[in-house]
Amino acid sequence: MIEIRDVYKAFGSGLRPLQGVSLDVPTGTNVVVLGKSGSGKSVLLKSIVGLLVPEHGSITVAGEEVVGADRRTLQSIRRKVGYVFQSGALYDSLTVGENLAFPLEKTRGITGSEARERVMHYLEQVGLPEKVNKMPSELSGGQRKRIGVARTIITEPEYLLYDEPTTGLDPQTTKEIAELIVHLKQDLKITAVTVTHDPYCLHIVADTVAYLEEGKILFNGTKDEAHRSDVEFLRIFFSLQEHRV
Ligand SMILES: Nc1ncnc2c1ncn2[C@@H]1O[C@H](COP(=O)(O)OP(=O)(O)O)[C@@H](O)[C@H]1O
Ligand SMILES: [Mg+2]
Repeated sequence: MIEIRDVYKAFGSGLRPLQGVSLDVPTGTNVVVLGKSGSGKSVLLKSIVGLLVPEHGSITVAGEEVVGADRRTLQSIRRKVGYVFQSGALYDSLTVGENLAFPLEKTRGITGSEARERVMHYLEQVGLPEKVNKMPSELSGGQRKRIGVARTIITEPEYLLYDEPTTGLDPQTTKEIAELIVHLKQDLKITAVTVTHDPYCLHIVADTVAYLEEGKILFNGTKDEAHRSDVEFLRIFFSLQEHRV
């Protein structure tokens, strides 16, 4: 599991996005993190993989401490935790297949026919095996996101962090991505933290909901509890969902 304890992160500019965040992500669950834009959701995800270093607190992934970890420990943690960036972050000058093969070689040392087999397997997992020789510029926004997910899961992480996986997508692609997240959880048993503003995405992927405001987790509970919560953001969020789903 992922255990976040009393984490503080500030920036030089005086911004203090995390001011004592504590959150558990039990193995096999998908926790959806909600919060206003700029509330520190991406800072929290980046802290879990050690891309940002909190000044105080503890984050453990499967028992390994991330905060203050040395390079070797960070490498081991990053092998366990995949991060799906909002943009998909594909290399534009590489084909889809090469984009997927890159992290395999870099983090696992897998090349040649084994790499080719894995690339095809994970393209099938995201429903796009026919795109292997395409360039990223030939893909739609939704396809790029799916390839971004494939590139993250190809190294077979036990944990996935999704940063706004459906933002800016049309409803059909949103549904496909949300279903892909659920499929990865059920079939590959991936434990996940998903940041989203999308009521539909929350509806189908969330086991529990955590709400971040003013640097703290103000609410943490089941979807039903979130629905009944009197936290204003959650009331507005779920009243929108009633119109959508
Ligand atoms: N590397 C950074 N350096 C300075 N400020 C940052 C950095 N990353 C994020 N911030 C600031 O921290 C706050 C929280 O950002 P972020 O976590 O990206 O918000 P969101 O909840 O929308 O994902 C924002 O005000 C943002 O500008
Ligand atoms: Mg963000």
